[in-house]
Amino acid sequence: MTAGMSAGRQGSRELYDMAVVRGFALSTLVWGIVGMSVGLLAALQLAWPSLNMPPYLHFGRIRPIHTNAVIFGFTLGVVFTGSYYGVQRLCRVRMFSDALSRIHLWLWNAIIVAAALSLAAGYTTSKEYAELEWPLDIAVVVMWVIYAVNFFGTIARRREKPMYVALWFWIASILTIAMLYIFNNLERPVSMWKSYSIYAGVHDANIQWWYGHNAVGFLLTTPILGLMYYFLPKQVGRPIYSHRLSILHFWSLIFLYIWAGPHHLIYSPLPDWAQSLGSVFSVMLILPSWGGMLNGLLTMRGEWNRLRTDPLLKMFAVGLTFYGMSTFEGPMMAIKTVNSLSHFTDWTIGHVHSGALGWVALTSFATLYYVVPRLWHTELYSIRLAETHFWIATLGIVLYVTPMWISGVTQGLMWRAVNPDGSLTYSFVDTLAAIHIYYVLRTVGGALFLSGVLLMFYNVLRTIQQGTSEVPEPSAAAAVAVAGGK
Ligand code: HEM
Ligand code: HEM
Repeated sequence: MTAGMSAGRQGSRELYDMAVVRGFALSTLVWGIVGMSVGLLAALQLAWPSLNMPPYLHFGRIRPIHTNAVIFGFTLGVVFTGSYYGVQRLCRVRMFSDALSRIHLWLWNAIIVAAALSLAAGYTTSKEYAELEWPLDIAVVVMWVIYAVNFFGTIARRREKPMYVALWFWIASILTIAMLYIFNNLERPVSMWKSYSIYAGVHDANIQWWYGHNAVGFLLTTPILGLMYYFLPKQVGRPIYSHRLSILHFWSLIFLYIWAGPHHLIYSPLPDWAQSLGSVFSVMLILPSWGGMLNGLLTMRGEWNRLRTDPLLKMFAVGLTFYGMSTFEGPMMAIKTVNSLSHFTDWTIGHVHSGALGWVALTSFATLYYVVPRLWHTELYSIRLAETHFWIATLGIVLYVTPMWISGVTQGLMWRAVNPDGSLTYSFVDTLAAIHIYYVLRTVGGALFLSGVLLMFYNVLRTIQQGTSEVPEPSAAAAVAVAGGK
């Protein structure tokens, strides 16, 4: 990887457009705090239903606000941050258009605000992860086209001919999300804030989960892998373990992912052959996923001792381990007999958050800790706070995910238990009483995880306070570089 490290000067302006990256980084943190606070409220409401505050803060509205804010606010935000930072360095040119970068930043923020308000007001298509009504869908498509033009324009003008694998992962994400978002959101508007899908019945379900599953694949996985492939070797200070393995990882992952959607519709009216196809492709997905995990982990070979002192490497290493765990668990859950137990239970919620908190969020935190000091030409305010963040987050994940696994298996087994005469052994309320304690524990885990993010926000603000967005004069830049802050 031959990326230039520090932002240099070209005339009076930075060689790379770092102002937009600063905007994305700060927005990401804000949306992370909003999205996870709302997640915590949802967790509290599940444990203590009297905390529902109808109509605006009722669980039914809070839940999609949480998922939209953490996926399209926090996760997409860090993807924009990392990809704008990385593409300029990997191509050794400034972004294609500063104007497009600015429009992208502000339009995306405006869409997230409008999404939160419209969902709180009760406007929804009711399709999971695609709840936004048609005017916002159009805005999303415009925003995505701007991102694509800016990103591909930069690549087209690149001064570094070979394209490192991180770029491939971001390209795949941009193209696939465009295709999925447009096709799943084809709808017939009947008023300003109401539309109906053009698909019906099982076709609608199939398209919805082709989208839903690949939103996981191409928003929560491939662009985050792009971040891992770019920022992990940077932090370790050595190249990725195997370029050959990274190419194999890339092509096999994107080829297999796109077929796995029907694993969300097992034992549904979807034709049986399509369900089996989804299961088989899901099981095969273990191979590329673990190839990627090993490629990341082995990049740290010879440097393991640094894990003791470097919180960023800890986050990358534990993030990759959770990637490995959730991409083992997912294929298991896609096997029909396992899914007959796990579907509709909290096992799915445990799986989701082992991927979302363990893999996506930890890798995102490491990325933000990497870029923030470089964006403000200084060092991180406190390594010790980042270290504390790592431990609080890890404890939070364990306290979130483990209770959900136990709760899920408990639910599944209680629902299917039958007496000798064929009647159900337990009522639904019996299962709720049995899992209440796990909901309380999950709330504690979520609160810990969120407090880690607040700690990070403080650390970032203090870092910004001691730094500057101006590019320092060459002598000052050299001093910062020597201090390890380049
Ligand atoms: C403080 C951290 C968080 C807390 C307390 C939290 C809490 C929750 C709760 C209570 C639910 C609803 C579960 C249910 O309906 O039974 C949920 C769903 C969900 N959360 Fe989170 N969450 C957090 C962070 C995140 C992050 C960072 C992401 C993604 C990057 C995420 C993605 C999701 C998704 C995709 C769902 C829907 C899962 C499904 O439908 O199966 N969450 N979360
Ligand atoms: C090899 C990779 C993976 C496979 C084969 C897989 C498979 C599955 C399966 C079978 C389900 C349950 C479907 C159901 O019963 O309704 C599921 C749910 C889910 N998975 Fe995964 N998973 C994988 C990796 C991941 C990762 C890395 C993440 C997050 C970063 C993730 C996020 C989710 C989400 C958000 C859901 C809930 C969807 C919903 O019902 O709303 N998965 N996955």
